[in-house]
Amino acid sequence: MVSENLTSALNKQIEMEGYASFLYLSMSCWCEHKGLKGCAAFLRRQSEEENMHMLKIIDYMLDVDAIPVIPQVNQPPVRFDSIVSLMHSVYEHEKKVTRSIHQLVDLCTKEDNSDTFNFLQWYVIEQREEEALMRSILDKIKLIGDGPQSLYYIDKEVETINAQQVAKATTN
Ligand code: FEO
Repeated sequence: MVSENLTSALNKQIEMEGYASFLYLSMSCWCEHKGLKGCAAFLRRQSEEENMHMLKIIDYMLDVDAIPVIPQVNQPPVRFDSIVSLMHSVYEHEKKVTRSIHQLVDLCTKEDNSDTFNFLQWYVIEQREEEALMRSILDKIKLIGDGPQSLYYIDKEVETINAQQVAKATTN
């Protein structure tokens, strides 16, 4: 059982995860168009993960007899200034999602809803890992440098990181 307040907050989170999925898919398309295949694969996988995050909340809401609202998804940007600013935007977006998850957790505490609180702990860990992942990519970009000659190496690094993430997901 979840309150009206919490139902509305969970629906907002569905919208946020859905938007993240579309945003990363759009970013993936831009990378593919620019020949950055490693970055494109990484962002396509991130997009699929966000979709899974959205579905997980929908399933939870159905389990507790709440009605999930499937949102209208705002169109994400189509063009990006550079791969460096794009990766910075992903990091900023993840920080925004983390803040939203923590607000949801706070609401559960206020409403004494331990079931939803426990459900959200998976997202708390996931957000910590996603922020750390994006920081590691930005650190690599800093080491490589962001001049035009660096694009090939940035793409290769992101491809390697993506392969590590895929391997991690299959062992879990
Ligand atoms: Fe599901 Fe990366 O926020």
